[in-house]
Amino acid sequence: MLWQLSLAALAGFAAWRWSSLQDATFTLDGITVPPQTVIVDPLMFNVIGEGGHYRQDSFTEFFNPTNTAPPFFQLFHPEFLRVLGDRPSIRSIASRPETIFAHEAPVWFPETDEVFFGSHCYGPKGWRDCSGNNFISIISMREVKDSVRASGSSIASLNVTVAKLDTPVVRQKTWGATGPYKSSLILINSGNVDRPSSLALMNPAPPYNVTVLFDNFYGREFNSLNDGKIHPTSHKIFITDPTYGFHQHFREPPMVHNQVYRFDPDTGNVRVVSDELVRPNGLAFSADGKTAYVADTGAAIGFLGRNQTLPATIYEFDVNPKTQVFEHRRVFAYIDAGVPDGIQVDKFGNVYSSCGDGVHVWNRYGILIGKFFIGKVSCNLVFAGDRNLVILAGDQVFLAEIAAGGINLAYP
Ligand SMILES: *[C@@H]1O[C@H](CO)[C@@H](O)[C@H](O)[C@H]1NC(C)=O
Ligand SMILES: *[C@@H]1O[C@H](CO)[C@@H](O)[C@H](O)[C@H]1NC(C)=O
Ligand SMILES: *[C@@H]1O[C@H](CO)[C@@H](O)[C@H](O)[C@H]1NC(C)=O
Repeated sequence: MLWQLSLAALAGFAAWRWSSLQDATFTLDGITVPPQTVIVDPLMFNVIGEGGHYRQDSFTEFFNPTNTAPPFFQLFHPEFLRVLGDRPSIRSIASRPETIFAHEAPVWFPETDEVFFGSHCYGPKGWRDCSGNNFISIISMREVKDSVRASGSSIASLNVTVAKLDTPVVRQKTWGATGPYKSSLILINSGNVDRPSSLALMNPAPPYNVTVLFDNFYGREFNSLNDGKIHPTSHKIFITDPTYGFHQHFREPPMVHNQVYRFDPDTGNVRVVSDELVRPNGLAFSADGKTAYVADTGAAIGFLGRNQTLPATIYEFDVNPKTQVFEHRRVFAYIDAGVPDGIQVDKFGNVYSSCGDGVHVWNRYGILIGKFFIGKVSCNLVFAGDRNLVILAGDQVFLAEIAAGGINLAYP
Protein backbone atom coordinates (compact mmCIF):
# COMPACT_ATOMS: atom_id res chain seq x y z
CA MET A 1 0.00 0.00 0.00
CA LEU A 2 1.40 3.38 -0.92
CA TRP A 3 1.43 6.22 1.40
CA GLN A 4 -0.80 9.15 0.37
CA LEU A 5 1.09 12.41 0.09
CA SER A 6 0.28 15.76 -1.37
CA LEU A 7 1.94 16.31 -4.73
CA ALA A 8 4.12 19.07 -3.35
CA ALA A 9 5.31 16.84 -0.57
CA LEU A 10 5.88 13.95 -2.97
CA ALA A 11 8.29 16.02 -5.02
CA GLY A 12 10.43 16.62 -1.97
CA PHE A 13 10.25 13.06 -0.68
CA ALA A 14 10.81 11.25 -3.95
CA ALA A 15 13.94 9.64 -2.62
CA TRP A 16 12.01 7.01 -0.65
CA ARG A 17 11.43 3.50 -1.73
CA TRP A 18 8.33 1.84 -0.38
CA SER A 19 7.01 -1.63 -0.36
CA SER A 20 4.27 -1.58 2.25
CA LEU A 21 3.47 0.32 5.41
CA GLN A 22 4.39 -2.51 7.72
CA ASP A 23 7.27 -3.89 5.80
CA ALA A 24 8.58 -0.68 4.40
CA THR A 25 11.90 -0.67 2.66
CA PHE A 26 12.67 2.96 3.02
CA THR A 27 15.68 5.11 3.10
CA LEU A 28 15.98 8.24 5.14
CA ASP A 29 18.68 9.55 2.82
CA GLY A 30 17.99 12.68 0.86
CA ILE A 31 14.71 13.68 2.44
CA THR A 32 13.95 17.29 3.20
CA VAL A 33 14.21 17.53 6.96
CA PRO A 34 11.59 19.87 8.46
CA PRO A 35 12.62 22.50 11.01
CA GLN A 36 13.37 21.31 14.59
CA THR A 37 13.48 17.73 13.32
CA VAL A 38 16.25 15.21 13.88
CA ILE A 39 16.34 11.96 11.95
CA VAL A 40 17.11 8.97 14.12
CA ASP A 41 17.57 6.15 11.63
CA PRO A 42 16.98 2.91 13.56
CA LEU A 43 19.64 1.19 11.44
CA MET A 44 22.26 3.51 12.92
CA PHE A 45 21.38 2.49 16.49
CA ASN A 46 20.73 -1.22 16.31
CA VAL A 47 24.14 -2.07 17.71
CA ILE A 48 25.69 -0.41 20.73
CA GLY A 49 28.35 -3.01 21.22
CA GLU A 50 30.90 -3.96 23.79
CA GLY A 51 31.96 -1.08 26.01
CA GLY A 52 29.08 1.06 24.78
CA HIS A 53 26.57 2.66 27.10
CA TYR A 54 23.20 0.98 27.59
CA ARG A 55 20.41 2.89 29.32
CA GLN A 56 19.86 1.76 32.90
CA ASP A 57 16.62 3.52 33.81
CA SER A 58 13.78 4.10 31.35
CA PHE A 59 12.27 6.78 33.59
CA THR A 60 15.31 9.03 33.96
CA GLU A 61 17.65 8.26 31.06
CA PHE A 62 16.20 8.94 27.64
CA PHE A 63 16.96 7.87 24.08
CA ASN A 64 18.46 11.02 22.55
CA PRO A 65 21.41 9.67 20.54
CA THR A 66 22.00 13.03 18.83
CA ASN A 67 22.08 14.89 22.16
CA THR A 68 19.74 17.51 20.74
CA ALA A 69 18.40 20.14 23.14
CA PRO A 70 14.63 19.75 23.63
CA PRO A 71 12.03 20.52 22.50
CA PHE A 72 12.42 18.95 19.04
CA PHE A 73 10.99 16.23 16.82
CA GLN A 74 12.65 12.82 16.56
CA LEU A 75 11.84 11.12 13.27
CA PHE A 76 12.23 7.33 13.19
CA HIS A 77 10.16 6.64 10.08
CA PRO A 78 9.22 8.79 7.06
CA GLU A 79 5.53 8.42 7.89
CA PHE A 80 6.14 10.97 10.64
CA LEU A 81 6.66 13.61 7.91
CA ARG A 82 2.96 13.42 7.15
CA VAL A 83 2.25 14.21 10.82
CA LEU A 84 4.71 17.10 10.90
CA GLY A 85 4.09 18.65 7.48
CA ASP A 86 6.57 21.04 5.88
CA ARG A 87 6.82 23.70 8.56
CA PRO A 88 6.23 22.21 12.00
CA SER A 89 7.21 23.92 15.22
CA ILE A 90 7.31 22.98 18.87
CA ARG A 91 7.74 25.41 21.76
CA SER A 92 6.79 26.02 25.37
CA ILE A 93 3.76 28.32 25.55
CA ALA A 94 3.27 28.61 29.32
CA SER A 95 5.47 27.96 32.29
CA ARG A 96 4.89 28.29 36.04
CA PRO A 97 8.09 26.88 37.54
CA GLU A 98 6.69 26.55 41.07
CA THR A 99 3.53 24.54 40.32
CA ILE A 100 2.45 21.34 38.61
CA PHE A 101 -0.44 23.28 37.08
CA ALA A 102 -0.65 21.32 33.81
CA HIS A 103 -0.84 17.71 34.91
CA GLU A 104 -3.75 15.96 33.16
CA ALA A 105 -7.39 16.26 32.07
CA PRO A 106 -6.84 18.33 28.91
CA VAL A 107 -9.99 19.05 26.95
CA TRP A 108 -10.52 21.45 24.08
CA PHE A 109 -13.76 23.41 23.91
CA PRO A 110 -14.16 24.41 20.23
CA GLU A 111 -16.78 27.19 20.65
CA THR A 112 -14.43 29.35 22.70
CA ASP A 113 -11.18 27.78 21.46
CA GLU A 114 -10.06 27.21 25.04
CA VAL A 115 -8.07 24.31 26.48
CA PHE A 116 -8.99 23.26 30.03
CA PHE A 117 -6.69 21.12 32.17
CA GLY A 118 -6.11 20.09 35.77
CA SER A 119 -3.19 20.53 38.16
CA HIS A 120 -1.62 17.77 40.20
CA CYS A 121 -2.25 18.15 43.92
CA TYR A 122 -2.63 21.61 45.33
CA GLY A 123 0.16 23.59 46.92
CA PRO A 124 3.70 24.75 46.22
CA LYS A 125 5.49 22.45 43.77
CA GLY A 126 2.29 20.48 43.53
CA TRP A 127 3.60 17.00 44.19
CA ARG A 128 3.66 16.78 47.97
CA ASP A 129 0.44 18.05 49.47
CA CYS A 130 -2.26 15.81 48.07
CA SER A 131 -4.87 16.33 50.79
CA GLY A 132 -6.69 19.26 49.18
CA ASN A 133 -8.43 19.47 45.84
CA ASN A 134 -6.54 20.15 42.60
CA PHE A 135 -7.38 23.12 40.39
CA ILE A 136 -8.52 23.54 36.80
CA SER A 137 -7.08 26.21 34.51
CA ILE A 138 -7.75 27.51 31.00
CA ILE A 139 -5.48 28.61 28.20
CA SER A 140 -7.05 30.61 25.39
CA MET A 141 -5.87 29.23 22.05
CA ARG A 142 -6.78 32.59 20.50
CA GLU A 143 -4.20 34.25 22.73
CA VAL A 144 -1.73 31.47 21.90
CA LYS A 145 -2.26 31.90 18.15
CA ASP A 146 -1.93 35.69 18.42
CA SER A 147 1.32 35.31 20.35
CA VAL A 148 2.65 32.77 17.87
CA ARG A 149 1.80 35.10 14.98
CA ALA A 150 3.40 38.06 16.73
CA SER A 151 6.61 36.10 17.23
CA GLY A 152 7.04 35.66 13.46
CA SER A 153 9.63 33.04 12.58
CA SER A 154 10.94 32.82 16.14
CA ILE A 155 10.27 29.61 18.03
CA ALA A 156 11.29 31.08 21.39
CA SER A 157 9.18 30.13 24.41
CA LEU A 158 5.99 32.07 25.04
CA ASN A 159 4.28 32.57 28.37
CA VAL A 160 0.55 33.06 27.86
CA THR A 161 -2.14 33.68 30.46
CA VAL A 162 -3.19 30.68 32.54
CA ALA A 163 -6.53 31.47 34.16
CA LYS A 164 -7.27 29.42 37.27
CA LEU A 165 -11.00 28.65 37.60
CA ASP A 166 -13.19 28.82 40.65
CA THR A 167 -15.01 25.48 40.56
CA PRO A 168 -17.38 23.72 43.01
CA VAL A 169 -15.89 21.41 45.69
CA VAL A 170 -17.97 18.46 44.48
CA ARG A 171 -15.36 18.22 41.73
CA GLN A 172 -12.60 16.47 43.70
CA LYS A 173 -9.25 15.91 42.04
CA THR A 174 -10.09 15.92 38.37
CA TRP A 175 -7.55 13.51 36.84
CA GLY A 176 -9.10 13.11 33.42
CA ALA A 177 -11.41 15.03 31.12
CA THR A 178 -12.84 14.68 27.66
CA GLY A 179 -15.69 15.77 25.46
CA PRO A 180 -17.41 18.09 25.15
CA TYR A 181 -20.52 15.99 25.81
CA LYS A 182 -23.76 17.86 25.09
CA SER A 183 -21.79 21.12 25.34
CA SER A 184 -20.41 20.33 28.82
CA LEU A 185 -16.99 18.99 29.71
CA ILE A 186 -16.74 15.45 31.05
CA LEU A 187 -14.66 15.41 34.24
CA ILE A 188 -13.18 12.15 35.49
CA ASN A 189 -12.54 12.73 39.18
CA SER A 190 -10.21 10.57 41.26
CA GLY A 191 -11.82 11.67 44.52
CA ASN A 192 -10.03 12.32 47.74
CA VAL A 193 -9.44 10.88 51.22
CA ASP A 194 -13.00 11.73 52.17
CA ARG A 195 -14.76 12.02 48.82
CA PRO A 196 -15.58 9.35 46.25
CA SER A 197 -14.32 9.07 42.68
CA SER A 198 -16.90 10.37 40.24
CA LEU A 199 -17.78 11.12 36.66
CA ALA A 200 -19.26 14.59 36.23
CA LEU A 201 -20.25 17.22 33.71
CA MET A 202 -18.92 20.76 34.06
CA ASN A 203 -20.28 23.89 32.45
CA PRO A 204 -17.40 25.29 30.35
CA ALA A 205 -18.55 28.85 31.14
CA PRO A 206 -18.90 30.66 34.48
CA PRO A 207 -20.04 29.68 37.10
CA TYR A 208 -18.44 26.36 35.99
CA ASN A 209 -21.20 24.43 37.77
CA VAL A 210 -20.82 20.69 38.02
CA THR A 211 -23.33 17.82 37.89
CA VAL A 212 -22.14 14.40 39.09
CA LEU A 213 -23.30 11.54 36.85
CA PHE A 214 -22.19 8.64 39.02
CA ASP A 215 -19.91 7.98 41.99
CA ASN A 216 -20.31 4.28 42.79
CA PHE A 217 -20.57 0.75 41.43
CA TYR A 218 -23.74 -0.64 43.04
CA GLY A 219 -22.86 1.12 46.27
CA ARG A 220 -19.10 0.46 46.19
CA GLU A 221 -16.51 3.15 45.62
CA PHE A 222 -14.05 3.10 42.73
CA ASN A 223 -10.27 3.18 43.35
CA SER A 224 -9.56 6.50 41.65
CA LEU A 225 -11.12 7.08 38.25
CA ASN A 226 -8.40 8.35 35.93
CA ASP A 227 -9.06 8.92 32.24
CA GLY A 228 -11.51 8.12 29.46
CA LYS A 229 -13.28 8.93 26.21
CA ILE A 230 -16.71 9.00 24.62
CA HIS A 231 -17.12 6.08 22.23
CA PRO A 232 -17.35 7.58 18.72
CA THR A 233 -20.39 5.65 17.50
CA SER A 234 -22.37 4.55 20.58
CA HIS A 235 -21.57 7.72 22.57
CA LYS A 236 -21.25 5.73 25.80
CA ILE A 237 -18.49 6.90 28.14
CA PHE A 238 -15.51 4.65 28.93
CA ILE A 239 -13.27 5.27 31.96
CA THR A 240 -10.26 3.63 33.59
CA ASP A 241 -9.85 3.02 37.32
CA PRO A 242 -6.30 2.34 38.59
CA THR A 243 -5.11 2.75 42.19
CA TYR A 244 -3.09 5.96 41.87
CA GLY A 245 -5.16 7.76 44.52
CA PHE A 246 -3.90 5.21 47.04
CA HIS A 247 -0.39 5.21 45.57
CA GLN A 248 -0.28 9.00 45.96
CA HIS A 249 -1.70 9.00 49.49
CA PHE A 250 -5.11 10.52 48.87
CA ARG A 251 -7.38 7.46 48.63
CA GLU A 252 -7.98 4.37 50.74
CA PRO A 253 -6.18 1.11 49.79
CA PRO A 254 -7.58 -0.53 46.61
CA MET A 255 -11.31 -1.18 46.88
CA VAL A 256 -12.00 -2.98 43.61
CA HIS A 257 -10.00 -4.73 40.88
CA ASN A 258 -8.29 -2.31 38.46
CA GLN A 259 -10.66 -2.19 35.50
CA VAL A 260 -12.10 -0.29 32.56
CA TYR A 261 -15.78 0.69 32.85
CA ARG A 262 -18.48 1.65 30.38
CA PHE A 263 -21.13 4.11 31.49
CA ASP A 264 -24.42 4.52 29.65
CA PRO A 265 -25.70 8.03 30.47
CA ASP A 266 -29.15 7.17 29.10
CA THR A 267 -29.87 4.15 31.30
CA GLY A 268 -27.38 4.74 34.12
CA ASN A 269 -25.83 1.32 33.60
CA VAL A 270 -22.19 0.96 34.68
CA ARG A 271 -20.39 -2.20 33.59
CA VAL A 272 -16.86 -3.57 33.32
CA VAL A 273 -15.42 -3.95 29.81
CA SER A 274 -11.86 -5.02 30.66
CA ASP A 275 -10.05 -6.45 33.67
CA GLU A 276 -6.87 -7.36 31.81
CA LEU A 277 -4.54 -4.51 32.75
CA VAL A 278 -2.31 -3.98 35.78
CA ARG A 279 -2.96 -0.23 36.03
CA PRO A 280 -5.27 0.93 33.21
CA ASN A 281 -4.66 4.61 32.49
CA GLY A 282 -5.09 6.61 29.26
CA LEU A 283 -7.76 5.41 26.82
CA ALA A 284 -8.68 6.22 23.23
CA PHE A 285 -10.72 4.79 20.37
CA SER A 286 -9.99 4.61 16.67
CA ALA A 287 -12.25 6.97 14.70
CA ASP A 288 -14.57 4.08 13.70
CA GLY A 289 -14.92 2.95 17.32
CA LYS A 290 -13.89 -0.61 16.49
CA THR A 291 -10.53 -0.50 18.26
CA ALA A 292 -9.73 0.62 21.81
CA TYR A 293 -6.25 1.60 22.97
CA VAL A 294 -5.60 1.45 26.71
CA ALA A 295 -2.35 2.45 28.41
CA ASP A 296 -1.08 0.19 31.19
CA THR A 297 1.15 2.14 33.58
CA GLY A 298 1.90 -0.96 35.64
CA ALA A 299 5.60 -0.01 35.93
CA ALA A 300 4.78 3.19 37.88
CA ILE A 301 3.61 2.43 41.41
CA GLY A 302 3.52 5.82 43.17
CA PHE A 303 5.02 5.62 46.65
CA LEU A 304 6.08 2.05 45.94
CA GLY A 305 8.43 3.37 43.27
CA ARG A 306 8.96 1.96 39.80
CA ASN A 307 9.49 -1.49 38.41
CA GLN A 308 10.78 -1.61 34.84
CA THR A 309 9.75 -5.24 34.43
CA LEU A 310 6.04 -4.41 34.78
CA PRO A 311 3.96 -3.08 31.85
CA ALA A 312 4.76 0.27 30.25
CA THR A 313 2.55 -0.77 27.41
CA ILE A 314 -0.35 0.33 25.26
CA TYR A 315 -2.71 -2.56 24.61
CA GLU A 316 -5.09 -2.73 21.70
CA PHE A 317 -8.53 -4.39 21.86
CA ASP A 318 -11.43 -5.10 19.56
CA VAL A 319 -14.58 -3.40 20.81
CA ASN A 320 -17.37 -5.98 20.68
CA PRO A 321 -20.02 -4.49 18.37
CA LYS A 322 -22.91 -5.67 20.57
CA THR A 323 -21.68 -5.54 24.16
CA GLN A 324 -18.73 -3.15 23.71
CA VAL A 325 -16.63 -5.40 25.93
CA PHE A 326 -12.92 -5.03 25.07
CA GLU A 327 -11.80 -8.29 23.44
CA HIS A 328 -8.67 -9.88 21.98
CA ARG A 329 -6.11 -7.93 23.95
CA ARG A 330 -2.76 -7.60 22.18
CA VAL A 331 0.32 -5.43 22.58
CA PHE A 332 0.12 -2.28 20.51
CA ALA A 333 3.36 -0.69 21.73
CA TYR A 334 5.85 -1.04 24.55
CA ILE A 335 7.20 2.36 25.61
CA ASP A 336 10.95 2.97 25.81
CA ALA A 337 10.73 5.96 28.21
CA GLY A 338 8.68 5.98 31.40
CA VAL A 339 5.07 4.84 31.07
CA PRO A 340 2.34 5.66 28.51
CA ASP A 341 -0.29 7.94 30.02
CA GLY A 342 -2.88 9.97 28.06
CA ILE A 343 -3.65 8.73 24.52
CA GLN A 344 -5.01 10.52 21.43
CA VAL A 345 -5.60 9.37 17.85
CA ASP A 346 -5.10 11.59 14.80
CA LYS A 347 -7.04 11.76 11.53
CA PHE A 348 -4.53 9.48 9.81
CA GLY A 349 -5.12 6.77 12.44
CA ASN A 350 -1.78 7.35 14.20
CA VAL A 351 -1.74 6.88 17.97
CA TYR A 352 -0.08 9.45 20.30
CA SER A 353 0.75 8.91 23.95
CA SER A 354 2.29 11.03 26.67
CA CYS A 355 5.42 9.29 28.00
CA GLY A 356 8.52 9.90 30.11
CA ASP A 357 10.37 12.07 27.56
CA GLY A 358 7.45 13.67 25.69
CA VAL A 359 4.84 12.39 23.25
CA HIS A 360 5.41 9.25 21.17
CA VAL A 361 3.61 8.57 17.88
CA TRP A 362 2.97 5.17 16.31
CA ASN A 363 1.28 4.37 13.05
CA ARG A 364 -1.84 2.21 13.29
CA TYR A 365 0.32 -0.90 13.08
CA GLY A 366 2.23 0.02 16.23
CA ILE A 367 5.48 1.13 14.56
CA LEU A 368 7.09 4.06 16.39
CA ILE A 369 7.34 6.76 13.72
CA GLY A 370 8.40 9.77 15.79
CA LYS A 371 8.46 11.64 19.06
CA PHE A 372 7.71 15.11 20.28
CA PHE A 373 10.80 15.08 22.47
CA ILE A 374 10.56 17.52 25.39
CA GLY A 375 13.08 15.80 27.68
CA LYS A 376 10.66 15.46 30.58
CA VAL A 377 7.46 13.71 31.60
CA SER A 378 4.25 14.52 29.82
CA CYS A 379 1.14 13.04 31.42
CA ASN A 380 -1.43 14.06 28.84
CA LEU A 381 -2.11 15.81 25.54
CA VAL A 382 -4.97 17.07 23.40
CA PHE A 383 -5.51 18.37 19.88
CA ALA A 384 -6.94 21.88 19.93
CA GLY A 385 -8.40 21.63 16.45
CA ASP A 386 -6.38 20.86 13.35
CA ARG A 387 -2.66 21.54 13.40
CA ASN A 388 -2.42 22.35 17.12
CA LEU A 389 -1.27 19.72 19.59
CA VAL A 390 -1.18 20.83 23.23
CA ILE A 391 1.21 18.84 25.42
CA LEU A 392 0.93 19.07 29.20
CA ALA A 393 4.25 18.74 31.00
CA GLY A 394 3.61 19.53 34.66
CA ASP A 395 5.03 23.01 35.20
CA GLN A 396 4.98 23.74 31.48
CA VAL A 397 2.66 23.50 28.47
CA PHE A 398 4.01 22.93 24.95
CA LEU A 399 2.38 23.64 21.60
CA ALA A 400 3.28 21.65 18.51
CA GLU A 401 2.08 23.15 15.23
CA ILE A 402 1.91 20.23 12.83
CA ALA A 403 -0.03 19.00 9.80
CA ALA A 404 -2.08 16.42 11.72
CA GLY A 405 -5.32 17.00 13.58
CA GLY A 406 -7.24 14.95 16.11
CA ILE A 407 -10.36 12.88 15.54
CA ASN A 408 -13.66 14.19 16.90
CA LEU A 409 -13.91 13.60 20.66
CA ALA A 410 -17.20 15.42 21.16
CA TYR A 411 -20.82 14.32 21.29
CA PRO A 412 -22.96 15.41 19.55
C1 LIG B 1 5.39 33.05 33.17
O1 LIG B 1 4.50 33.95 33.76
C2 LIG B 1 4.12 33.61 35.09
C3 LIG B 1 3.01 34.54 35.55
O2 LIG B 1 3.12 35.79 34.99
C4 LIG B 1 5.34 33.66 35.99
O3 LIG B 1 5.00 33.32 37.30
C5 LIG B 1 6.37 32.67 35.44
O4 LIG B 1 7.55 32.72 36.20
C6 LIG B 1 6.68 33.00 33.99
N1 LIG B 1 7.55 31.97 33.47
C7 LIG B 1 8.76 32.22 33.09
C8 LIG B 1 9.56 31.06 32.57
O5 LIG B 1 9.25 33.33 33.11
C1 LIG C 1 -25.25 24.60 35.03
O1 LIG C 1 -26.34 25.37 35.47
C2 LIG C 1 -27.30 25.68 34.43
C3 LIG C 1 -28.31 26.64 35.02
O2 LIG C 1 -28.88 26.09 36.16
C4 LIG C 1 -27.91 24.38 33.95
O3 LIG C 1 -28.83 24.66 32.91
C5 LIG C 1 -26.82 23.48 33.42
O4 LIG C 1 -27.36 22.23 33.06
C6 LIG C 1 -25.75 23.26 34.49
N1 LIG C 1 -24.66 22.51 33.87
C7 LIG C 1 -23.99 21.55 34.52
C8 LIG C 1 -22.94 20.83 33.77
O5 LIG C 1 -24.22 21.27 35.68
C1 LIG D 1 9.18 -6.16 39.86
O1 LIG D 1 8.05 -6.89 39.43
C2 LIG D 1 8.31 -8.26 39.24
C3 LIG D 1 7.08 -8.87 38.59
O2 LIG D 1 5.94 -8.65 39.39
C4 LIG D 1 8.65 -8.89 40.58
O3 LIG D 1 8.94 -10.27 40.40
C5 LIG D 1 9.87 -8.18 41.15
O4 LIG D 1 10.12 -8.65 42.45
C6 LIG D 1 9.65 -6.70 41.21
N1 LIG D 1 10.87 -6.03 41.54
C7 LIG D 1 10.97 -5.19 42.57
C8 LIG D 1 12.32 -4.59 42.78
O5 LIG D 1 10.03 -4.90 43.26
